[in-house]
Amino acid sequence: MPELKYATLAVHAGQHPDPLTGAVNVPLYLSSTFELTGIGTDKGWDYSRAGNPTRDRLEESLAVLEGGNRPGIKAFAFATGMAAISALLAPLRMGDHVICSHNVYGGTARLLDQIIAHYGIAIQYVDMGNLDLLAAAIRPNTKLIYCETPSNPLMQLTDIRAVADLAHQHGIEVSVDNTFLSPVLQSPLDLGADIVMHSTTKFLNGHSDGLGGALITTTKEQAERTLLVQKAVGATLSPLECYLVLRGIKTMPLRMKQHEENGRAIAAHLASHPKVLRIHYPGLETHPQHALALRQQKGFGSMMSIDLGSREAAGRFLAAIEIFLNAESLGGVESLASHSSTTTHAALSAERKLDMGITEGLVRLSIGIEDKDDLIADLDQALATI
Ligand SMILES: Cc1ncc(COP(=O)(O)O)c(C=O)c1O
Repeated sequence: MPELKYATLAVHAGQHPDPLTGAVNVPLYLSSTFELTGIGTDKGWDYSRAGNPTRDRLEESLAVLEGGNRPGIKAFAFATGMAAISALLAPLRMGDHVICSHNVYGGTARLLDQIIAHYGIAIQYVDMGNLDLLAAAIRPNTKLIYCETPSNPLMQLTDIRAVADLAHQHGIEVSVDNTFLSPVLQSPLDLGADIVMHSTTKFLNGHSDGLGGALITTTKEQAERTLLVQKAVGATLSPLECYLVLRGIKTMPLRMKQHEENGRAIAAHLASHPKVLRIHYPGLETHPQHALALRQQKGFGSMMSIDLGSREAAGRFLAAIEIFLNAESLGGVESLASHSSTTTHAALSAERKLDMGITEGLVRLSIGIEDKDDLIADLDQALATI
């Protein structure tokens, strides 16, 4: 059979019928423990923190969707995206140095600054758009370059191939948070990244009904250390949430088509709207990294942010939206809008936010899969209240 296409893999990878009953959906194994077959022998599972059959299927699916059929790719599912990032960072040692994208999800910066830094690990934020700055930041003890592209909420891109080439010359690993585009629209491993991270809470689940996170690794050593953290720290994804992500994955390629179509149409509309002072969407030709987006992404997705000029204007807009919901998170079927400064990036100081470019008037939009004309009408009526 020829190599299977992505939409086929989304429905079938890891999701084969249950060998015991023939059930076409992966069964939900709600069992914390498993009967052993003897001393030191079992049927493949002994305790759900170490391994659960439903989680195994999700991890199989994620490995294929993110890594294709290359050998050695392994996926690990965690309780949240933050738990996945924690598992990525947990193997670092005192004295190590991490370089992180200047603009990242506020929770990631909070984890790095308020937890990881206390373990004697040096954290340095660098504008990954500037490779000279990145090269200058590399030290002999740099162990990881942590990228988020596109970044939350400013949609800044990192040239994954260029960063990976530079990092690998120094023996440094590169991780990419691929949450904003999903594995459908960007394949960081093909561009040279070593580890991919996802908040499965977003596009992979797609229905805003469960949290989750994942790491996808490329080498045996990475897989071994990630498995150890998963088992030793224990922030694993529950079987029910694994099931929900598996269900979401089946329609992900279809959903991403609609997210993409709506995202492009809405960005084009907002780009010339008089109430929108600035729009951040790499799909627009005016975005400074549009050429990079065309080169390294398979689409532009449905995440964008708009600057409405002031906190008051943002407040009016958020109070007036009717189809869009004023809520954190992203990647679900429903459209959401959120005030970045007081939600996703609330943990950062006012100076840090301004330095990053997160203004008081900035509103992040996650465009869902509703009819785009309805969404545009909703945005227009809400913008008219400013
Ligand atoms: C880009 C990005 N990475 C990671 C996370 C953390 O994921 P979770 O909320 O599932 O812990 C988020 C959450 O919004 C995010 O936007």
